[in-house]
Amino acid sequence: MIKILPSILAADMLRMGEEITRMAEVGADGLHVDVMDAHFVPNLSFGPAMVKAIRKGFPNIYQDVHLMMDNPAAYIATFAEAGADAITIHAEIPENIEEILRDIRSRGCKAGLSVKPKTDVRTIEGYLPLCDQVLVMTVEPGFGGQKFMADMMPKLRWLRQTGFAGGVQVDGGVNAGTARDCVAAGADELVMGTALVRAADPAAVIRACRALEDRP
Ligand code: DX5
Ligand code: ZN
Repeated sequence: MIKILPSILAADMLRMGEEITRMAEVGADGLHVDVMDAHFVPNLSFGPAMVKAIRKGFPNIYQDVHLMMDNPAAYIATFAEAGADAITIHAEIPENIEEILRDIRSRGCKAGLSVKPKTDVRTIEGYLPLCDQVLVMTVEPGFGGQKFMADMMPKLRWLRQTGFAGGVQVDGGVNAGTARDCVAAGADELVMGTALVRAADPAAVIRACRALEDRP
């Protein structure tokens, strides 16, 4: 079953509650929350207060938290307590990846590891047993609305070839068209910002993405 996770980075920030309600009503499977520290990526976005506010307003919504931070280790407990269901860190950070993944799991959250476009996905092979999900960036992280990088598809295929049975996520420039290649290559979790949250007919976008898994 394909999971569709709207990125709230593309939402109308002044109407966040309404935006989340709208995404839930059209059948999204949760939310993708992009946390940016202005250091790992050249942008700033949300912190744990946003995760906590969403958890309070939407007790049952699934929150997939993507930490684009250099030093996530010190914040795992905070995000877990704020209400994250899944926490993804980046493979490029100068911290002890194994320890952080174990820490995320020990707090009852799904643990994820993400690779930027220039990172060779094979470098994370040793961490896969500690991952519930892997996020393959299909744009340079930092901003929504960028162009999808189709040359990331071999990373998805490689992950499935290793026998990895967790979630395989794609993030960046994913729309109903580019999602087809992603699903064909092994992705089962689609993070969608602009193409879903800002769509005139988001229900149609979700229908089109769900139909992809019916194809051989
Ligand atoms: C980019 C973020 C993405 C972003 C995707 O750094 O990780 O989650 O919101 O936005 P779109 O779908 O517009 O590329
Ligand atoms: Zn993201």
